[in-house]
Amino acid sequence: MASITIDGIVKQFSGQTVLQNLSLHIPDGAFYTLLGPSGCGKTTLLRCIAGFYEPDGGRLLFDQDDVTRVSTHHRDIGMVFQDYALFPDKSAFDNVAYGLRARKVAKPEIARRVGEALEKVGLSALADRYPAQMSGGQRQRVALARALVIRPRVLLMDEPLSNLDAKMRLQMRDVILDLVREAGITTVFVTHDQEEALAMSDRIAIMDRGSIAQLGTPEDLYGTPVNAYVADFIGSANVIPVAARCMDDSATPHVRYQLAGQELDGVQGSPQLNGESVLIARPEDLSLMAPAPHVPNALHGKVLRRQYLGFKTAYRIALQNGPEIRVELHAGNTVADFQAGDAVQVLVPADSRVVSA
Ligand SMILES: Nc1ncnc2c1ncn2[C@@H]1O[C@H](COP(=O)(O)OP(=O)(O)OP(=O)(O)O)[C@@H](O)[C@H]1O
Ligand SMILES: [Mg+2]
Repeated sequence: MASITIDGIVKQFSGQTVLQNLSLHIPDGAFYTLLGPSGCGKTTLLRCIAGFYEPDGGRLLFDQDDVTRVSTHHRDIGMVFQDYALFPDKSAFDNVAYGLRARKVAKPEIARRVGEALEKVGLSALADRYPAQMSGGQRQRVALARALVIRPRVLLMDEPLSNLDAKMRLQMRDVILDLVREAGITTVFVTHDQEEALAMSDRIAIMDRGSIAQLGTPEDLYGTPVNAYVADFIGSANVIPVAARCMDDSATPHVRYQLAGQELDGVQGSPQLNGESVLIARPEDLSLMAPAPHVPNALHGKVLRRQYLGFKTAYRIALQNGPEIRVELHAGNTVADFQAGDAVQVLVPADSRVVSA
């Protein structure tokens, strides 16, 4: 096991910069996820950590060891790929044994460790099967056993669950977490599935065009996104341009902002709000009431659409002299229900965050 320090890594492909001076420290034993849209550089970063790509700048450390120029074979990593990358002509046993044989481990120990690894992923009975004779989830478990059996210092996984059906994905989340927690292994997990990232990670790094837009716990990213990009990527948010001004200089100053011809109170969510700002409001943080005079932090509007979704009801509201806004009321929320065409007031909490655009 080892901590991973990524220190100002730069990676270019034919003149195009794909990783821009990216830094990230992953403590020993932690489970970190790289999350971001297609093309943002997740796989490239993982491949730099693995040693498949040599960075054009910056350093990579495992604990205190500079491994920037160390070959993949000598980095002591376990890797799991999206398409499993099993050897089709080898049985599950031989696939898992591969790394141990390459390391010249003695035969009886190979038999013992492969047996143990297959048992951990629940595949003892399928040791003699070939990949073509296994389901996607079973193949993924073989890939996981193969990566872990060598007891690597770090485990790297590139979208390991994306080829599985929804039910198997949920099961494999638990299998992976149980195994990596038990081994205490430092893990970098890549996904573009935000729910997977929220459910599994100690910390999530949201990537945007080769940089980290925000690093934080799942709660940090959901609750206090630093910008509209993060807010929009994690969960769903109303991201609405507003004109804001700060009211004091404390760490999280109170702001007043203009929206739909009204002035509302909010909280400054990023430093230096200068002009171009956006309000970030989760639909579930907003509520609705029948129009009434003198309600603070409320906006007048009209229901465009009401969608009943069982555990919640989703509304699209056209704000008077303003944009559309989405509101979600949970079942059991006792406020009156509204229908398309109803005039309403949208209540915006005074701790809603305004960040720079
Ligand atoms: N070997 C390569 N040669 C040239 N360009 C590359 C190479 N590998 C990646 N790229 C480019 O680098 C950028 C980042 O690619 P990368 O595979 O890291 O994205 P990703 O975040 O993993 O995306 P996805 O979610 O689709 O897997 C893309 O614009 C891609 O086209
Ligand atoms: Mg990728």
